[in-house]
Amino acid sequence: MDAHRRPPADHTLSLIAGGYAWLPQRMRQSPDRAVPLRIMGRPALALSGPEAVRFFYDEHNIRRHGAIPEPVTGLFGRGAVHTLDGQAHRQRKELFLPLLEPDRIAGVVGHVTAAWDEAVPEWAARPQVVLFDEAAAVLTRGVCRWAGVPLEDAEARSVAADLVAMVDGFATLGPRHWRARRARARQEARTARVIEDLRSGRGPAAGRPDSLLARVAAHRDVDGGRLPVRTAAVELLNVVRPTVAVSWFVAFAAHALHRWPAHRERLRDGDPAYAAAFAHEVRRFYPFAPFLGGRAARDLTWRGHQVPAGGTVLLDVFGQNHDEELWADPYTFRPRRFLERPPQRDELIPQGGCDPRTGHRCPGEGVTVGLLESLAVRLARLEYEVPAQDLRISLRRIPARVRSGFAVTAVHEPG
Ligand code: HEM
Repeated sequence: MDAHRRPPADHTLSLIAGGYAWLPQRMRQSPDRAVPLRIMGRPALALSGPEAVRFFYDEHNIRRHGAIPEPVTGLFGRGAVHTLDGQAHRQRKELFLPLLEPDRIAGVVGHVTAAWDEAVPEWAARPQVVLFDEAAAVLTRGVCRWAGVPLEDAEARSVAADLVAMVDGFATLGPRHWRARRARARQEARTARVIEDLRSGRGPAAGRPDSLLARVAAHRDVDGGRLPVRTAAVELLNVVRPTVAVSWFVAFAAHALHRWPAHRERLRDGDPAYAAAFAHEVRRFYPFAPFLGGRAARDLTWRGHQVPAGGTVLLDVFGQNHDEELWADPYTFRPRRFLERPPQRDELIPQGGCDPRTGHRCPGEGVTVGLLESLAVRLARLEYEVPAQDLRISLRRIPARVRSGFAVTAVHEPG
């Protein structure tokens, strides 16, 4: 074919198969921090930087409805808050905004920390435990107790495994994706039964009117009606599932303490400012969300680049968290950076940017930081050995994770 008439390359596959590094590599070569792309055969644009964050989160520019491809919608559930815009989004977001309040954060952290403390003697009795799996079980027990969701002790591990599978399968079409779908079907059905029981005054959950479960069951949408039971289940899981996903960060924290043991000493002291700085650095340094996607609400121009209405716009989350214009030595793990300068709203964006009250930013950021502060200090105080294992974290796998899950032996609490 004549080179002049060859259609421009499509980047959809490279974006998915290239892992975390593909987009940031291109972004670094662009002085205006904007990369024109073609996604699914259509013009698209990737952006980075605090100004780009504000552009991306302006609803006049970017809409979410229809932005998330089907495999990923499967992660959040059909009709989830993530996919809504305008008044429908604001009304649904009301459900999640209490999670920003310090007493709710303390509630989740308190329940999860108690579940951790209950689990440690059992770890000590076993020859080896995998921290990622144990953290997922602890987080499941804690968040279900806090949310008022009934959970038998015997089912905690299988529910935790399903919630982990749902997160693990969001960016692939291979076997992990199908595992995630089966896990979602099971957990949506289970949660829907709990909501139905509550609405009809039956079941063990009926007694806690202030619980998250009760609030979701009673929530009214923008049309004034109660949420369909399946949507209510989806939204309850939109708190329980990402809370359990904090197990990724617990394993990353263990990885950091192993690679750079000096942080262990500082954390053991229990200085809250250092624990917060450590939590932020784990969220900045380690890979989780690679980028966010939306659709141009109208014909857009960003720094001279054009995107037609309906075109895809990407926010380069992982790239921005490692941009050397924002972070000195971005590939060095250095919690102290956050003691020197507290995290700025639109600079540190592992859980989205701008204001969670008005936009799509994660309402669970305070919960995530609170959990990490508490569990990282407990991890630093725990005595254990780290046997030979594969501790690599592949940047080609989304979501990335410590390959071995971080196995430990000879666990004991210091006397
Ligand atoms: C949204 C990351 C923990 C609840 C998001 C978004 C990201 C994110 C990247 C999308 C932001 C956007 O679309 O602009 C994470 C990570 C977590 C985490 C990496 C820790 C592993 C949590 C927790 C909760 C939570 C603990 C609840 C307790 C939500 C909800 C949304 C959301 C409900 C949808 C918000 C909306 O669309 O308005 N999260 N999150 N997340 N997250 Fe989290």
